[in-house]
Amino acid sequence: MGQLTGRTALITGASSGIGRAAAQRFVAEGARVYVTGRRSEALEESVRELGDQAIAVPNDVSDLDDIDALFARIAADAARLDIVFANAGGGDADQPLHSLTPEAFDRTFGTNVRGTVFTVQRALPILNDGASIVLVGSSSARRGTAGFGVYSATKAAVRQFGRVWAAELAPRGVRVNTVVPGPTDTPGLRGLAGNPEQADEFVGRLAGSTPLGRAADPAEIADAVLFLASSQSSFITGSELFVDGGEVQVYP
Ligand SMILES: NC(=O)c1ccc[n+]([C@@H]2O[C@H](COP(=O)([O-])OP(=O)(O)OC[C@H]3O[C@@H](n4cnc5c(N)ncnc54)[C@H](OP(=O)(O)O)[C@@H]3O)[C@@H](O)[C@H]2O)c1
Repeated sequence: MGQLTGRTALITGASSGIGRAAAQRFVAEGARVYVTGRRSEALEESVRELGDQAIAVPNDVSDLDDIDALFARIAADAARLDIVFANAGGGDADQPLHSLTPEAFDRTFGTNVRGTVFTVQRALPILNDGASIVLVGSSSARRGTAGFGVYSATKAAVRQFGRVWAAELAPRGVRVNTVVPGPTDTPGLRGLAGNPEQADEFVGRLAGSTPLGRAADPAEIADAVLFLASSQSSFITGSELFVDGGEVQVYP
């Protein structure tokens, strides 16, 4: 028996990075997973790795019609959810206030905040009592890193929604927690470097901000997500779990 045997999960943004690693971990623990992402090919590749316990639903979380189509697809299977890992997200590296555009603001808030809010809202009718919702924050939300105002503000918003939803959903026994990765070596993080030649140096520089002196492997974040998704964390709700190599706790 795996830790998630008999459970059904939705993981948004599972074609890459942390979401993909979490999907692998969940399937290895016996879950059936619905996985999403905008790029169908990357998503199909991820599902090929995962095997027949995974169902790909191409989806853009910043688009409400797409979110509704996702839940219509799940409803068509008469499936109910035990776990929602609202992971899809990202941002731009260099968005200082003076050059910030409304388009960039809307794109990042649209994906990270609006996408998370309406994914979780639309999931509510098919969530089993006792389900677990895991959101994704960022250690950057605890810091004042120049150029990261919009991204870190989206993650601060997500963390706060997690606290409030934990209160709102507690009567159903639904737990809501936020996993807070530090620098994690994913295609998304590397993409912020500007070009592939600079990616190692960029990741290395961020790694230097952690007491452990390295970036996380996505599988290490997935382990923490599994903990929050499973009954191992049955008395934990409204919390944020830092998986950041000590970045925020040791160097606040
Ligand atoms: N890596 C880090 O250092 C780090 C640190 C703290 C927090 N995080 C957070 O962790 C989460 C995962 O990031 P990652 O590093 O794994 O990045 P990643 O490698 O770029 O993966 C992001 C995933 O989200 C999907 N996605 C992005 N925008 C989407 C949208 N509008 N609709 C649907 N899917 C979307 C992507 O697929 P498509 O491109 O195909 O849509 C991809 O599957 C994000 O919320 C990120 O902010 C990452």
